[in-house]
Amino acid sequence: MAPNVLIFDTTLRDGEQAPGFSMSEDGKLKMARALAALNVDIIEAGFAAASPGDARAIARIAAEVDGPRICSLARAVKGDIDAAAQALKAAKKKRIHVFLGTSPIHREFKLEMSAAEVLTRIADMVAYAREFADDVEFSAEDAIRTEPGFLVEALSTAAAAGASTLNVPDTVGYSTPEEIYELFRMLSKKVTREEHVIFSAHCHNDLGLAVANSLAAVRGGARQIECTVNGIGERAGNAALEDAVMAIRTRRDATGVTTNINTREIMNTSRTLSKITSTHPPRNKAIVGANAFAHEAGIHQHGVLKNRETYEIMKPEDIGLASNALVLGKHSGKHALAARARELGHDLDTEQLNAAFAVFKEVADEVGTVDSARLATILSRLDGTLETGLWTLSRAEVRMPLAANAMPVARIELDHPRRGRVTDIASAPGALDAAFTAVSHIIGMEGRVESIDMQYVAADPDEDGPGGQGADVLIEMSVAVEGESFTGRARTRDILPACVSAYIDALCNAEAIARHRARNHAPAAAE
Ligand code: KIV
Ligand code: ZN
Repeated sequence: MAPNVLIFDTTLRDGEQAPGFSMSEDGKLKMARALAALNVDIIEAGFAAASPGDARAIARIAAEVDGPRICSLARAVKGDIDAAAQALKAAKKKRIHVFLGTSPIHREFKLEMSAAEVLTRIADMVAYAREFADDVEFSAEDAIRTEPGFLVEALSTAAAAGASTLNVPDTVGYSTPEEIYELFRMLSKKVTREEHVIFSAHCHNDLGLAVANSLAAVRGGARQIECTVNGIGERAGNAALEDAVMAIRTRRDATGVTTNINTREIMNTSRTLSKITSTHPPRNKAIVGANAFAHEAGIHQHGVLKNRETYEIMKPEDIGLASNALVLGKHSGKHALAARARELGHDLDTEQLNAAFAVFKEVADEVGTVDSARLATILSRLDGTLETGLWTLSRAEVRMPLAANAMPVARIELDHPRRGRVTDIASAPGALDAAFTAVSHIIGMEGRVESIDMQYVAADPDEDGPGGQGADVLIEMSVAVEGESFTGRARTRDILPACVSAYIDALCNAEAIARHRARNHAPAAAE
């Protein structure tokens, strides 16, 4: 049977430690629940001695989250170990994770301790932690820059004192796959330990090698890897959990190991983290980025429509995505357009397809991506079934009073081919909220803005306007209408009209889909 590699998740400790990723106590609990559903083996819930808030979050996770072993980090000092033990009291399965720097630079400048003092401290503090927990992990901080002979001594000392996991961190993200593979092979041979004691890899991503190094460590004998969701963590982050797990799964032939991860929860866990931290992974991030299973190029779409394995090595369903996305944009071809039109109930003949394709390319050139709702609008217009026209923004004005308790007021004018020009005024705590409320009053549809992505598209230097500035604002907005998400897009010179136009676009898309469904009597996903 293939050996199993334990997944130790440190999103709530090493990940949370990074600027921009701090989480509230409730957020941490939510994330821990998502990690339990993902079936990680160990959740490092925080660093109890770091702050009372961290200790409280660990205690709540220990009391309320079942399944994974719950762990707290602790420096190799009694006070930290006491705090970790206290926070973990309610955990059914607990681990105390004791760490101490072992490299010459850490010993000399950070700890001001001799090598012999470091060994004594490891022995004493691992033994002390064992008084509170049967499961103790020891980390030799900056192991990669530690003299190999001293690293063997330090890890053997920790094992003799009762540590059952020996973690070898590449704290500064300096190693290479070849080097770390050799290191783990050497440690496997030379560290004195009982059979149940395992090695663990903890790789940072400063050179973009964290996942490759973690997999090389596994090849060298590691049976635990420490990682974070979306790869968040100190500086360039830690090894991304989803990348390591999917590489192990997809290339079992090459890695020869398994994990206990329920991969169908990957997308959900990644999205939970993004929501809690208000930070999305880059579009092109492996596995969980918005583009990871999206195809826009015509040639790729044609291939995927015939057989998805032409351009896909994993199934989107395996990470919990409903399906791959054939993104319709200016690079798409007629095959993809015809396929999406068929899904929307329009079986186009050659002439209709050519006409739709011409309009579609124009729209794609303007706004980038053409989603199902927008395509439904294009198709309905072409076959004359779109009885009413679309709303467009004619004027947006916002007044922002300076008085402390006065709210911004927005005056919005929209044009409609049948209803003419309609004006509404609304106030709300925020200027955009006020403008969106006025639009909703006019169109007669409530929407809740879920997210706004803004790109500032600088013009060519020779096209600069007066004052040397020349740019467009490109807005992509997700708006929930009756529980379903619709995308709105717009491109203009200014932020306010761009946001308002994108909101109008999303509501018009929702209207078009509702009309389309009413005509076809069939429910269909908007995107
Ligand atoms: O990077 C590191 O060395 C760590 C240890 C505390 C495990 O995060
Ligand atoms: Zn780390």
